Amino acid sequence: MYNEKDIIAQWNADMYDLNETYTDDVELALMLMGTTPKKVLEIACGSGRFLVPVAKAGHDVTGLDFDEYMLKRIPHKITNEKIKWHKADVIYDDWGTGFDVVTLGANFLFNIVSDMNYEQAQKLMIQKSADALAVGGHIFVDYVYPQYPEKWFHNPNPNIIWEGTDSHGNFGKMSLLDNVYDTKSRIARYIRRFDMILADGNTLVQEIPSEKHFVVLEQIHKWLDEAGFVIEQECGDYQGHPISEMTNRVIIWARKIR
Ligand SMILES: C[S@@+](CC[C@H](N)C(=O)[O-])C[C@H]1O[C@@H](n2cnc3c(N)ncnc32)[C@H](O)[C@@H]1O
Repeated sequence: MYNEKDIIAQWNADMYDLNETYTDDVELALMLMGTTPKKVLEIACGSGRFLVPVAKAGHDVTGLDFDEYMLKRIPHKITNEKIKWHKADVIYDDWGTGFDVVTLGANFLFNIVSDMNYEQAQKLMIQKSADALAVGGHIFVDYVYPQYPEKWFHNPNPNIIWEGTDSHGNFGKMSLLDNVYDTKSRIARYIRRFDMILADGNTLVQEIPSEKHFVVLEQIHKWLDEAGFVIEQECGDYQGHPISEMTNRVIIWARKIR
């Protein structure tokens, strides 16, 4: 009766923009990029939360994402900046070449959606970044890095991520449930559940089995090295503190040297 995928994707894009309004990652990335205009590629740019302010700062930006409902929100946020975006599956589609900066921000290494082995997909994102960059260009990587991921999976209750009404009057709730974490493979499996009460009063429920691989820092270092990068900056938060049990994050700025 309904196209569940569309209703939920539309609701999801609205909730993303309502809830994810932080900017400190953008400020750090802009500081690292410097003031000379750069050719920047954002992988998984979504609705432009990061892409648009980077364009407004004077850079020539391109974003790739496969979610058309997220991409559709970008034109409402821009005037005449140098900004392009394309619908693309970043695992399988071409990224282009000759960029000065490629960003894997906003925790994308944990938000990859694909049918590929998760660890392999993470490594591929580093290699494809190298391929898209000119020699001397930089990669910006920003992801959640809990030193004890198993502690995240103690809570047996559903974890409600977003709840609210979208621009079409559809009310929804997204929760994560049935979390299981395997310490050996560092893979977390869980269900993303959407409970919707639509504007016409009908209800819709969708459960999407999902997984994430908790990559360790040494792996990232190895993949960067193999792809020809040398790390110039590494920190555990947007204020530049070192990575620690308190920071729960990794931010890397690395240069392609070959
Ligand atoms: C958490 S959002 C981040 C959006 C944006 N980078 C930001 O900073 O707000 C993650 C994005 O990754 C995209 N994504 C996940 N897997 C993808 C894939 N295989 N190809 C293209 N986009 C993907 C989703 O569509 C979503 O827009």
